This record gives sequence, structure tokens and C-alpha cells, in this order.
Amino acid sequence: MKQKIEELRRWLNYHNRKYYIDNAPEVSDYEFDQRMHELQRLEAEHPEFDDPNSPSRRVGSDLTTEFRTVEHRYPMLSLGNTYSIEELHEFFERVEREVGQVEYVCELKFDGTAISLTYEQGRLTRAVTRGDGRSGDDVTANVRTIRTVPLELTGEDVAPLFEIRGEIFMPYASFDRLNAEREQAGEQLFANPRNAAAGTLKQQNSAVVAHRGLDCTLYQMVGEGVSARSHWESLERAREWGFKISREARVCHSAAEVDEFIAHWDEARHALPFPTDGVVIKVNSYEAQQQLGFTSKVPRWAVAYKFKAEQALTRLESVAFQVGRTGAITPVANLAPVQLAGTTVKRATLHNAEQIAQLDIRLGDMVYVEKGGEIIPKITGVELSERKSDSVPFEYITVCPECGTELTRYEGEAKHYCPNQSHCPPQIVGRIIHFIRRKAMDIEGLGDETVELLYESGLVRDVADLYDLRAQQLAVLPRLGEKSADNIMKSIEGSKSVPFARVLFALGIRFVGETTAKYLAAHFGSMEAIMNATVEQLVEAEEVGDKIARSIVEFFADESNRTIIERLRVAGVQFEAEERELHSDLLAGKSVVISGKFRRHSRDELKELIELHGGKNLAAVSANVDYLVAGENMGPAKLQKATKLGIKMLSEEEFEALIASAPVPAASTKPNATPAPEPVQSTMPVQGELF
Ligand code: IVH
Repeated sequence: MKQKIEELRRWLNYHNRKYYIDNAPEVSDYEFDQRMHELQRLEAEHPEFDDPNSPSRRVGSDLTTEFRTVEHRYPMLSLGNTYSIEELHEFFERVEREVGQVEYVCELKFDGTAISLTYEQGRLTRAVTRGDGRSGDDVTANVRTIRTVPLELTGEDVAPLFEIRGEIFMPYASFDRLNAEREQAGEQLFANPRNAAAGTLKQQNSAVVAHRGLDCTLYQMVGEGVSARSHWESLERAREWGFKISREARVCHSAAEVDEFIAHWDEARHALPFPTDGVVIKVNSYEAQQQLGFTSKVPRWAVAYKFKAEQALTRLESVAFQVGRTGAITPVANLAPVQLAGTTVKRATLHNAEQIAQLDIRLGDMVYVEKGGEIIPKITGVELSERKSDSVPFEYITVCPECGTELTRYEGEAKHYCPNQSHCPPQIVGRIIHFIRRKAMDIEGLGDETVELLYESGLVRDVADLYDLRAQQLAVLPRLGEKSADNIMKSIEGSKSVPFARVLFALGIRFVGETTAKYLAAHFGSMEAIMNATVEQLVEAEEVGDKIARSIVEFFADESNRTIIERLRVAGVQFEAEERELHSDLLAGKSVVISGKFRRHSRDELKELIELHGGKNLAAVSANVDYLVAGENMGPAKLQKATKLGIKMLSEEEFEALIASAPVPAASTKPNATPAPEPVQSTMPVQGELF
């Protein structure tokens, strides 16, 4: 028995880490909770094997080192949970035995990441993640970017100091958009909206957070400052003050009404635009809540009823391996067709080799398929009792199923890759399909199948071949006639005027998505400059980190890529960014960093102004920087570094004055080497005043 308990603890510790720290869960919540319950049961039966470090003792932790860790004024507890209506009724019986007949508030259980917001004098002052329940990460800057979090409260009688808790989550629409962008950029996809929300909240760059479309709903007031007699009343008050409070919440007067609420949402939740994983039931009266109190971990006045992810058991018939445009290998399970959540499922994702090994999935096994928050069904386990005696462990492929090249694994990535970028057919076809996409070169009339056909017939072996095509070659292809061939030719011709940023994106360089391509094009101005740039120079462009820079250098170091680029140049594709009409060359040759928040301009407006006056925007403070335009709340580290390096600092107003002093536009639109005049003396606080 000791061994069994230890095994469970190890398993739970591993998956706890995957879930809370790595944000990359490998098992379903259901399976995790089942094993946790089993451990709790065994530990209760065998107190002799007690261990203060048992995973059953902890609430989970999502601490990271990058954010300031702060202590919660009131601990952030978790909730007891159950998957069974019977257990839920036991909860009602216990509550009513102790405090008599009560009302319950039923709410949806939002599937995101918990947050605690502090408001002082009606202003948001702090946003902290749950962490280990006692202290969490200060993510205020990121939370401020969430539109549904009020920065200042409205309405009457706002408590002078209080904390309110809720869930930050990612609506499906944002999630789909984010993953589509990541796929384009060849980045790993988020497994579900919960991981995407948690991952986004821990982004170092709050601008990235702002773009990802997070949402926040609040469900619990904490602290003494709130004068309400019940939970429901406090929610109504919070709504009046400007918080987003779920409209789905209800007061229920009996267990039967709670059952009805659950039955309704178990079905209706599928139509909601955001992810939910259950219903939370709370005793309404604060007085009754106080009487019931807490256990060491959870309140005794609330419980979560979790929806069961829809599951089915079916046979794994075979495993296919897909090779993506970037060479990433994705194992896909072919299943005996089975009904699941209203659709027939024949295939499921297996993610990677490690996952197959972890679950010990073997060919011919009866496997559990689940459709949880994820859109694509996944395999969550094996029914061992049905395993055939002659089954053998699954052997992962070592060579590419398409071209036979030995697979490799990159550091920090779970997937295997086929490194044969230049000659592996699905990678080439994938790159051509990417190249002609609407957001890239926008070549119309060529569907995926035609591209495959063009590749197989040898007419198009790389993207440059598209520009050598002739209408007669296309007209004879199946499903194409003269008219469509002509249209395709026109569209190919038209693609020659697609702006340089999109050409860069169309090349399909790993990690270079649409936005990065725009920044690169703006920063370097031409294909030649990017091709010749070093990693150190590349990271100077906005949004370009080490990983992206290395990928770009690697791409252009490849001889066959260079040949394709040269042929595209000869074909007449745009290799230079359009020059903008400069307002002046006041900042020519100068590098500027902007930091903090500004009252009169958005950051983008300021960046635009810098460029329009011939200057260059840099993201980080370094010795190469000439000016730092400093707004409110800029990071102390940046300020310190700038002071140390003796960089000229300008306030927003001083920057405006500087720009206003610019001479009338020069005849030439190109920046020249005229030195910029000395800016007005800075009035920013200097070291000592701030530290
Ligand atoms: S109340 C002390 N209400 O579920 C009680 N929690 O499993 C605090 N959650 O940590 C939580 N929707 O992150 C509450 N309507 C809701 C919720 C909710 C989602 C999350 C929350 C909590 C976890 C507990």
C-alpha cells in the first residue's frame, strides 16, 4: 500500500507541475481529480504513511521568478469539488444540518486562471495571481490591459479598500485567433483556452497581453470594507461599481433548483462563447457562511460541481504522422469511428512521442477519447483490462514518413522535426500554400490540391517557380480551364506589387509571423539588409528576440533559400519597404526608446512620430540609444540603466517641443546625416530623487 500511495504522489506531482508550472497538461482534469481523490482516500485510510509534502496538501503553485511575488491579504483558497450529484446533495445536507434552510447562489465555473484585484479609493492598485494561495505574482501591468477590468470604479458608496476575486479567461474567439497566428508563425499551439489565458497573463510584455483578447469576470468580494449581507448582494453592488459579473448566476431556494441549474448548463454551456468546466454553488447568506467556516484548504460554504468532459471508448487502429510546413511531426490517431458530443470521431491528436509513452498507448488498445475545452478530440487514457496479451509498446518513428530523413528534436520542444526543409515534399507544398495565402502574396485561384498537383507534375518545386509558370501549363490541369489559368496568371503578376512586409511573411521563416515581418520590414527597409543582418542587429528590431533572430539567420544561410530569394528578386517581387514621406530628418541617425505610459499620445503614435522624423525605434535601453522618451510608470530598471549610460531623457512634452522645432520638410524623403539639434534640457527626475 505504501508503494501505491507513493506512486500516486509521484504521478500527481508530475502532472501538477505540468499543469501549474509548465502550463502544458498531459492528462484531463477528470483523470487528475480522480487520482487525487484516490490518494486522499488512501491517505485517510492509512494515516501511518502521512507525508507533509503530499500533493494532496497543496493548492498548486504558479509562481515564476519574473514577477514580483506579493503576499495575499487574505489567503486565496480553492474549492472542494465533485463530479457527482449525490455528493453535492451530501453537501446540502451537511450545510442544512449545521445552519438550517438556506439559499444558494449558483454560478458558472469559468475555466481560466484566478485573479485577486485590490481597489483603493475606487482605483485598481494591484492584481495578483493565486500562486500557492498565500502569495502570488503581481501581474497588475498585464491585468490593466484587460478591457473588462475597471481601472476606476463608478457608482455610489464604493468601499475605500477592498479586494475582489475572479477569473481571467480567454473567449473562444480570441483563442482561435491566437492559435491561428501561432500556427502561421510556426509556433507551438496552446492546448486550450485555460493555458492560453495563464500563459498570456505571465507575458513580460503587456502590449502582447493587450492584443490577445483576455476577459475577466468577478465572483467574490473579500475584506471587511464591503457592507453587504449576502454574496448575491455583494455581486449586485460590484456590478453597480462597474465590474463584469456573470449574468448567468442565479439564487436557488432548494436542492432541486440547483439540480435544474446544473442540468441546464451542462447542455447550454456548449453554446457559450467562453470555456466553463462546471458550476460553483455558494451559500448566499454571509452569516451562514461565517458559521460554516473553512477547512484548512477550502470554504465549507461552497463547492464546485464539475462537468464531466464527454468521453468515449474506442479502438486505436493506427497512427499516422503528419509533416507540417515547418517540418514538425504530429502523430494522429486513427480510431474506430465513435459518437462523441454529437459528432463522429475518427481521429484524435496524440501531440508527440512523450505523450504516447507517458500514456503507454499501443496499437489495438481500447482508448478513451475526450472532447474537453479543446476543439480537437484527444486520447486521455487506455483501458488496460481490454489490452491484448500480445500487445507491444508503441515504437515512435525515427525517420520522416515522407522523405526518409532522420528526425531531430530541438531543445525545449516536445515535437520531432524533419530537418530536410529543402527536399521533403509536404514541407515544400506547405510552404507554397503558405506563400500564396491571402495574408501573404494573395495569389488567387490556386487551391491546396492544385498546388499539390503542380508540385507532383514538377511544374512548381519552390515558390520562385510560380513566377515561371505559363498559362498553357495551367490550362491543361484538371479542374482548370483557360479562363481560370488566365486569372491565376493575373493574380501571380499582381503579387509582384504586394508590399515587402508581406513578402517577408510569405517566405515562411520559422517564428516570423505577420506582425514580426512588419516590424522587420520597417526596421531594416529591404531584403538585402535583413539577409545581411547579424543576430545582434536583428534583435534591435521591435518584437524580435533571440529565437526569431537565430531562425532568420539560419534561413538566409541556407544556399537553396538564397537561390529562391534571388529568383524572386529577378521576377520583380517587392524587396524594399516603401519609403514614407518623412516630416523631417530631425532624428536621422538617432535611436529612440519610449517607455511608460503617456497622456497625450499612444505609444504607437509616438513611434510613428519618431519614424516620420527619420529616427529609429528601439525596444531596449543600450549604449546605442540617443533619447529615452519617458512616460509615467516606466520601469525603474530601465530608468536606472538610462541614467547610468547618460542617455538624454525627454518627457512627453519635451519630445513634442523637440519635434515642433523641426525644420520644414526637406526636399528629399530619405533621411540624411544632418545631426539633430540638441534637445531641450530634460526635466525628468534624476537618480536620487527616485531611488
Ligand atoms: S469561488 C473560496 N466562483 O475555480 C472560493 N471560483 O476550483 C473562491 N472559479 O480558484 C472561488 N469560476 O479559479 C469561484 N464562479 C466561480 C468560479 C471559480 C471559476 C475557479 C477559481 C477557483 C477554482 C476552484
